[in-house]
Amino acid sequence: MTTQPVPPDLDAHLAAGTAALEAATDLDALDRAEQAHLGRRSAIGEVQRSLGGLDADARRQIGARLNAARATLKALAERRRAELEAARDDALLEAGRIDVTLPGRVPPRGAAHPLARTIDEVTDIFVGLGYRIAEGPEVETDWHNFQALNIPPDHPARSMQDTLYVTEPDGEVGRLVLRTHTSPVQVRSMLAGPPPLFVAVPGRVYRADTPDATHLPVFHQVELLAVDEGLTMGDLKGTLLAFARAYFGEGREIRLRPSYFPFTEPSAEVDVSCFTCDGRGRTGDGATCRTCRGEGWVEILGCGMVHPNVLAGAGYDPDKVSGFAAGLGVERLYMLRSGLADLRTMAENDVRWLARA
Ligand code: DAH
Repeated sequence: MTTQPVPPDLDAHLAAGTAALEAATDLDALDRAEQAHLGRRSAIGEVQRSLGGLDADARRQIGARLNAARATLKALAERRRAELEAARDDALLEAGRIDVTLPGRVPPRGAAHPLARTIDEVTDIFVGLGYRIAEGPEVETDWHNFQALNIPPDHPARSMQDTLYVTEPDGEVGRLVLRTHTSPVQVRSMLAGPPPLFVAVPGRVYRADTPDATHLPVFHQVELLAVDEGLTMGDLKGTLLAFARAYFGEGREIRLRPSYFPFTEPSAEVDVSCFTCDGRGRTGDGATCRTCRGEGWVEILGCGMVHPNVLAGAGYDPDKVSGFAAGLGVERLYMLRSGLADLRTMAENDVRWLARA
């Protein structure tokens, strides 16, 4: 019986291969360990190649051990591959997991523009006093915008309002204007039906003005018109006092100063007692009040008793009914109460301002 030298390192190769395969923590590392311990250039590969130089007995003996070692390592590699693949799939699933308990993303919410809110608030006050809302066209006839309001073509009052004229399809200029105020809707409302008439008219108006801190070429007004038998300036004053208190606060007073509008007689400008300094003209620290510039009063609107020519021109009998009217600037009302310094801010649509306004 021939004793063949057992290659002393086959057990060591098996142990090293086992350790390397067990230590692989991902599939790439496992591939590299397999290559290193089972591949053609591995120690086991060397033993395989050396078999050819052995006699038949030794080849059989060592070949059997070699195959067993290789089978062991292969089986180990397969098991390890299955484990690592499962771990990889788990990790992928975990990474793609959606946490359905997270709160959803809330889309930013829109809100009414400060101008729209002011129009709503002002018209609501008048609706509460029994007025109904009326509206009219923004492209208006010269007749409604001026002539029916006692402003004939050559009247100097026309230069108080820098009018934008509209060219008609046939090229005619001068008959249509972008309305310069909401007052033409007084005329339209009277033409639409008999007295008594109580309307509040919100709307957009236009003037050929260059924008600055206190002027916009496009702005908004609320017009007020009341016509009935026996209406007096006392009714006008009471109505405007109720409005001033609803909009500027319960403690407010108003005063009327004589003024001139072609469509009212008599006419007045209305001031409200200052809501910042409570009419004192000075703030708590003795400084001049910035809202009323020390006056104690702030101008808020124009008004008057409807001129008989306007009533008659719209088909009402000035001997039977009388009326009062007023015109309020919506941007101005918002600006006064909010302390906004520049009217243009209201037209800029800057959401950073809008979100706070
Ligand atoms: N329409 C005038 C303007 O825009 C404002 C106005 C003044 C309206 C007096 C009125 C009024 O109804 O009575 O300048």
